Amino acid sequence: MEIREVAVIGLGTMGAGIAEVFARNGFAVTGIEVNPEALSRGLATLDASLGRAVSRGKLTEADHKEIFGRIRPAASLADAAEADLVIEVVPEQMSIKHWVLQELDERCRPGTIIATNTSSLSVTAIAAGSAHPGRVLGMHFFNPAPVMRLVEVVTTVRTDPATADTITDLASRLGKTPVRVADRAGFVANALLLPYLNHAVRLLETGYATRDDLDTAVTEGIGLPMGPLTLLDLIGLDTSLSVMEVLREEFGGSRYTPAPLLRRLTAAGRTGRKSGAGFYDYSGKDPFHNENGLPLDTVGVAVISIGAEQERADALTARLTRAGIGVNADPDGPGDLVLAAVGPEGGVLAQALAAGRAAKTVGLHLASDTLAELVPTSRTSPAALAAAAAVAARLGVRAVRSSDRPGLIVGALLAAHLRDAVAMVADGYASPADVDTAMTLGCGYPKGPFRLLAERGPERIESLLRAMHRATGDPAFAPHPLLAEYVAAGMPEASS
Ligand code: CAA
Repeated sequence: MEIREVAVIGLGTMGAGIAEVFARNGFAVTGIEVNPEALSRGLATLDASLGRAVSRGKLTEADHKEIFGRIRPAASLADAAEADLVIEVVPEQMSIKHWVLQELDERCRPGTIIATNTSSLSVTAIAAGSAHPGRVLGMHFFNPAPVMRLVEVVTTVRTDPATADTITDLASRLGKTPVRVADRAGFVANALLLPYLNHAVRLLETGYATRDDLDTAVTEGIGLPMGPLTLLDLIGLDTSLSVMEVLREEFGGSRYTPAPLLRRLTAAGRTGRKSGAGFYDYSGKDPFHNENGLPLDTVGVAVISIGAEQERADALTARLTRAGIGVNADPDGPGDLVLAAVGPEGGVLAQALAAGRAAKTVGLHLASDTLAELVPTSRTSPAALAAAAAVAARLGVRAVRSSDRPGLIVGALLAAHLRDAVAMVADGYASPADVDTAMTLGCGYPKGPFRLLAERGPERIESLLRAMHRATGDPAFAPHPLLAEYVAAGMPEASS
């Protein structure tokens, strides 16, 4: 079937973005909002987004005008009557979705395809509200819709196969990469993304690490385009909470239980960028405070190893020396700072106590070329921590402060996230290639989870998970049997 005219119902952030995608690709789009204020807000969002493309030299003023001109604003669902495809992007409440579907049953031709952009509700349950469930399916875009290339095409047992084929082809014509998925909570990308974001909220609310350090750890330590708390603000905390609720309902367990802080901030109306504040305040965004300018000349540094890992201590000593920091080999000698060369497993306190200079000891883990995780213990003095931050600055890396727990920040977030990806494949829901495609094209990961797992080494991730499991007793961190298989027999072919 040929799609020429499209109607988008609901012009919030996602609806406006989806309307822009279609209009940019030459489609006539009816943008429907029953609330006049929301209609003008949606059109303004769309206009601003096109304006930004003009200012970046991606579109001309004439393109802007022409694309914007393809959008016909409308205030009634009756205006969807001529559309070949209707995409609903209304609030995530089943009663509203069903009301929209019933209206469309009355107003649209029987052949009109009805797509939902829901990110948390069951497409099957939504389709059940239509007199023609065969024409209903999910067409799930990612925020910002004009930028992210993934579209999850979600089919139900009732979806007419020809309808699914039409929408898959259409997504490709829009310059997107369609991935066909069945109707399971969170589909592929959200089922992996949200538990990881929620994990970061838990680390924040338990005082494990600060907001800025969690975000810096992820961008600098893993290379993802946004830190988890910044990304939650982009997605919207209310939307994220809805996805977590449905994941919990379907899968249960601690990994899928929404963090209380996510709930509190949502209840307080701090839903992220769209409301002006979430984890960050967008009225005048506050900068990172990681740099520390203490003069190093006054600081004497010693390096000790954790356990038997002398190699790591030697590498740190060499790096400090290259940066012009004099290292005193004797931890009992004079000096203000004892750096414990620590691995991602942590375990600084025992070594600090054993070395007898706990107040001056800080763990340091070089998590990537640009990130040091600093690990003070309950005995570390503020002066020693400040000195360690100054050392990191001299090494030219960003410093974040982590609790002394297995995984520190980067390893804890990443190992659990990769475990979820392995579990999804083990469940037979998606292939490693699907997972990598979803996360690279839907969430801007430079490398998909399976490629990250192959690079970091399944055995290292398994050993971190074992340590996290031992420390917390949480079965969500127990190494997955499929991961043990990868350790024993090698990884499947990575996709991206
Ligand atoms: N609308 C339109 N275009 C936008 C935009 C927006 N809101 N934000 C950024 N862009 C465009 C810019 O104009 C720019 O375009 P050009 O390259 O053509 O000039 C491009 O995106 C890059 O923007 P910036 O250079 O300003 O910023 P950046 O390099 O930091 O990238 C980002 C911004 C693309 C958002 C990047 O940070 C990213 O990929 N973040 C991850 C986003 C993500 O994970 N999204 C999925 C969330 S989950 C979801 O949406 C599903 C759900 O159901 C909850």
